[in-house]
Amino acid sequence: MKFFVDTADVTEIRSLIETGFVDGVTTNPSLIAKSGRPLQEVLKEICELVSGPVSAEVTATDLEGMLKEGRFLAKIAPNITIKVPLTPNGLKACRQLTKEGTSVNVTLCFSAGQALLAAKAGATYISPFIGRLDDIGETGSDLIHQIIEIYSHYPYFTTQVLAASIRSPLHVVEVARIGAHVATIPPKILHQLYQHPLTDKGLVDFLADWEKTGQSILPG
Ligand code: G3P
Repeated sequence: MKFFVDTADVTEIRSLIETGFVDGVTTNPSLIAKSGRPLQEVLKEICELVSGPVSAEVTATDLEGMLKEGRFLAKIAPNITIKVPLTPNGLKACRQLTKEGTSVNVTLCFSAGQALLAAKAGATYISPFIGRLDDIGETGSDLIHQIIEIYSHYPYFTTQVLAASIRSPLHVVEVARIGAHVATIPPKILHQLYQHPLTDKGLVDFLADWEKTGQSILPG
């Protein structure tokens, strides 16, 4: 399973890379706005730091506009993946950009039917937003389940399921149990994945007992 980080915060990405757990990055217009920085500059920096896929989202809603923006963004670096929304034009753009050899992430997926269309349009990734489904009283992880099940019937679908809108470490575990290929995880949640109170308590106890022995592991 791959871990992408869902952020446009370059400082955060730089420190997370040191963990060895960053396989890629996803951004969206809201995350770019939150960074307060120019889009191209941020994407360039992220692509220099991360060798894996970096998703950059188009903001045009018409087909021509999406294609123009997608082709422009794809030139920033070889590891750019173009993110298009799950709309009729988005899927047309997905088909065309894929044909041109560009990796495409179809975003804002909220149903299995939409995910089926994205696979048929040749998407590299489909991004179901599980947290936003939970927010409206549905169970986001059920959607991941349905998509994985549907795709498994058709081995010629190469689309990878990229679980997005992850809000807790439990979400990560849930989608991993179901077999999502990728989870895009906000930095805060990635840090939380390490944590368990019994790990902290166990370590305190081990070190206290060790100290009582007066020994040291290394000689001298
Ligand atoms: O990158 C898209 C997605 O992960 C958004 O998450 O928390 O804004 O629903 P959220």
